[in-house]
Amino acid sequence: MKLIEVQNYDEMSKLASEIIIEQVQTKANSVLGLATGGTPIGMYQYLMKDFTQNKTSYEQVITLNLDEYIGLDKNNPQSYSYFMKEHLFNHINIPENQTYLPSAKSVHDEEAGRNYEKLIESVGGIDMQILGIGENGHIGFNEPGTSFSSTTGIVKLADSTREANARYFTKMEDVPTHAISMGISTIMKSRQIVLLVSGVKKAPILNQLFQTDVNENLPASILKKHPDVTVIADQEALSILKEKKGSVFS
Ligand code: GLP
Repeated sequence: MKLIEVQNYDEMSKLASEIIIEQVQTKANSVLGLATGGTPIGMYQYLMKDFTQNKTSYEQVITLNLDEYIGLDKNNPQSYSYFMKEHLFNHINIPENQTYLPSAKSVHDEEAGRNYEKLIESVGGIDMQILGIGENGHIGFNEPGTSFSSTTGIVKLADSTREANARYFTKMEDVPTHAISMGISTIMKSRQIVLLVSGVKKAPILNQLFQTDVNENLPASILKKHPDVTVIADQEALSILKEKKGSVFS
């Protein structure tokens, strides 16, 4: 994993957007794996700004999101489908039928994961996958303990994840208990991965990620085995790691 240190959230967002823009400019029909959550919002804002100013075209781009809650209608503002429209798709020139999110009718919809895998394969795989990281080390919605060989499917959310995401809902009971998520092996098949880490809340997990060996209790640790991962982390996120390993970074 290559680590790029940045000052703050804004710098992380700008740099991540530049990496995506370069990807799209180099390969007009890029397949991008996209993420939701608070972390990538700034990056999406920079992409929109660039689209307005420089007209980078997404006409041939295909996007595949990492995950989606089960039980929320697409028009529910908390759904990831809504999130992506609001934060990106409605503001750039990507055709709607080239933007995909996994979706499952119920927690028993086993076909949904298999279909998403087929879809990823049919578009030639993901060129660049953007990832955030959960405070417990999850990527997508693959919670600690998930097998590294997992493929896209229904996952149960950890209580801590529901609590972390409760800030977006009116009450805890409204936070879905399950989601459909790209699997860990699915994510690992992406040709390039960019992991974004910002804020003091992520400092403990970023420290663990760099200090511990690859193990299924820390889903993001598998990224160490991928040949092309760039971690962009800001000073707050790096605070514990730098305190412990200051000399490595100085
Ligand atoms: C969410 C998403 C992840 C995201 C992570 C961190 O629950 N399923 O894809 O990366 O948790 O979210 P945030 O960026 O809001 O900290």
